[in-house]
Amino acid sequence: MLALNLRLHLAVLCWCWLNIKDLGSVQAGLSKPVIISAVNTEPSLQQAGRNISVVGDDFVLDGKVLRIVSGSLHYFRLPSLYWRDRLRKLKAGGLNAVATYVEWSYHEPEEGHYKFEGDYDVARFIQIAAEEGLYVLLRPGPYICGERDLGGFPYWLLGKYSNIRLRTLDKDFIRETKVWMAKLFSYLNPLLIGNGGPIILVQVENEYGSYGSDKKYMGEIRDILLKHVGGKALLYTTDGYSPSLFMDGSIEGAVATIDFGSQSDIPNIIKTFRRYFPRGPLMNSEYYSGWLTHWNESLQQIPGDSVVNTLRIMLNNGFNVNFYMFFGGSNFEFSAGANYGQTYLPDITSYDYDAPLNEAGDPTEKYYLIRNLLSEYHPEIQNIPTPVPSRKAAYGEIALQPRGSILSSKGRHHLGKKYGDVMGSKLPTFESLRQRAGLLLYETTLNDTDGQLRIAKPRDSVYVYVDGELQGILYRMCKQYTLNIKCKPGSTLSLLVENQGRINFGNQLHDYKGILSTVEHNNNVLDGKWTVTGFPLVFNISADKPLEGENELKRGPVLFEGSFTIPSTENILDTYLDTTGWSKGYVWINGHNLGRYWPRVGPQVTLYVPGVWLRPQINSIFVLELEEAPKELMMQFIDSPILNRRGLLCKLP
Ligand SMILES: *[C@@H]1O[C@H](CO)[C@@H](O)[C@H](O)[C@H]1NC(C)=O
Ligand SMILES: *[C@@H]1O[C@H](CO)[C@@H](O)[C@H](O)[C@H]1NC(C)=O
Ligand SMILES: *[C@@H]1O[C@H](CO)[C@@H](O)[C@H](O)[C@H]1NC(C)=O
Ligand SMILES: *[C@@H]1O[C@H](CO)[C@@H](O)[C@H](O)[C@H]1NC(C)=O
Repeated sequence: MLALNLRLHLAVLCWCWLNIKDLGSVQAGLSKPVIISAVNTEPSLQQAGRNISVVGDDFVLDGKVLRIVSGSLHYFRLPSLYWRDRLRKLKAGGLNAVATYVEWSYHEPEEGHYKFEGDYDVARFIQIAAEEGLYVLLRPGPYICGERDLGGFPYWLLGKYSNIRLRTLDKDFIRETKVWMAKLFSYLNPLLIGNGGPIILVQVENEYGSYGSDKKYMGEIRDILLKHVGGKALLYTTDGYSPSLFMDGSIEGAVATIDFGSQSDIPNIIKTFRRYFPRGPLMNSEYYSGWLTHWNESLQQIPGDSVVNTLRIMLNNGFNVNFYMFFGGSNFEFSAGANYGQTYLPDITSYDYDAPLNEAGDPTEKYYLIRNLLSEYHPEIQNIPTPVPSRKAAYGEIALQPRGSILSSKGRHHLGKKYGDVMGSKLPTFESLRQRAGLLLYETTLNDTDGQLRIAKPRDSVYVYVDGELQGILYRMCKQYTLNIKCKPGSTLSLLVENQGRINFGNQLHDYKGILSTVEHNNNVLDGKWTVTGFPLVFNISADKPLEGENELKRGPVLFEGSFTIPSTENILDTYLDTTGWSKGYVWINGHNLGRYWPRVGPQVTLYVPGVWLRPQINSIFVLELEEAPKELMMQFIDSPILNRRGLLCKLP
């Protein structure tokens, strides 16, 4: 094995941006079986730009072998003002390409309402990558997983078609996918390598082998992409490294690639893969340089030395690599997804991922190890200045004033949306009401005395109030479906339901939110009149009228407001908001939703605050606390993150 490694070590690794080298062997290689080509089949397209193809076991770009060393960085997980900085650092780490998913729900949050400007300007992101000397691996899905709400699908697909089957040949799903891809590629088409842009590879679906085995479906998605990509970039698939996964997930006409983490048995993986794909590039298109973290877990970490050790083995064995993630960023707003294991497992707000560049874009020890290793192959990398961590600010304490419960009449008036009454036992979902995220309040009148309340399918947490008093919380995650309540005939039952992110992976993908079952009290199904009010929490909360008075309630969903000043003489820096002592909720700074905090459970305790969202002089902050605020009613800006402090789950305040 050592001898093999040494021999391969001497093989030419071509980082094309550094060292474009004409390889005689590649010319000779043209007579070898050409497995896939982006241009050869359509010579008329060649004039437009450059060409990428697979020749033998290599990617070949404009006649030269291209060894891809790429890193994942999702433009939708950081403000666009930081795109260039992160891409430049990725390049300085020794990489020659960036891989990004495209998230459908980010660009079309509501049906037909497209967003492609500012932070949503994916074409601009790709242009900046090109300006920084990087090729682009585009992963448009339409399913992306990515620890995002509903795996990147817009939630309204579930509302528009009550029986839609995502990731299948379902006619509605395929038709909607075609409309979306036509829209997306109307922006991205000029950026394909065949048109002179940086996009060399375009992924078909995403780890489909982990989900299904319908080749007709994969063929359909390939054809939809082919229609837009034509011969102007190569198609590829990504799947787990076991044959059942990559055989179900790959499709003719797309380069099959696999994914795995450090400490994998590379020779064995190659042997297995080659049994099915004797020729073609070896590529680990998701090399796990870190890992995701759920609430109620310890922060997941992968040691840097194990990442570089396996990286070296892969490079010496001819692999193309894409780090997943190279920079993770944050799940701002309501974008975090969830997994389903033994139970529902929502993802934390931070997507730091223990990546080489941390959540704030700072190089970590792992980053330097990777850069050093890649420099052994390409000493030129050392000529690029080494990035260093940026300074963070500790802006100190902010006092927060309660503005009242959002369930008060003023709260409902300013922040709520009345959906009207329904009769019977079947309650509307977030999707059927076309409300993407936030909270939904269901209210009815009880006709019985103290006893058990039962909700078999809470999605995801239900705050149970009787006559305005919080009596308990049902958490889907803790499989708590019953609660003994105190009440009398005529009492008002208010059920406030929090959507904590739709499942993004596996067979529970169709994760409708709200109360999906009946509500029973003392074994009677409550099937009278229900009043339904939504709190979508999507407006610019700081621009909206604050609630007034009514500030007594300390338990329950209370809105708090505060402000803080940054002297205009100071540089504005990134900072972290420490939510220690608070329970669970959301924070808006100058109208930007930083995402969910839940220090009561952990492990994440601070929220990353990008400096570009702050301004000199007065800044506004709103906090919506769902459970219980600390006595001090204070949060703090500190200069380093706290991402690994465990709390208690399934314990009532
Ligand atoms: C690919 O592009 C290069 C450079 O533009 C050109 O010389 C070559 O003939 C093209 N090859 C194919 C197979 O189209
Ligand atoms: C309460 O209502 C349920 C269904 O609406 C009914 O079955 C039950 O008999 C009622 N109970 C009382 C105590 O009125
Ligand atoms: C939360 O974490 C604790 C400690 O690891 C574990 O015992 C418990 O099962 C977890 N609860 C859920 C619902 O995952
Ligand atoms: C929200 O509104 C305030 C006040 O009008 C404005 O200053 C701020 O930029 C807005 N924020 C966003 C994210 O739109």
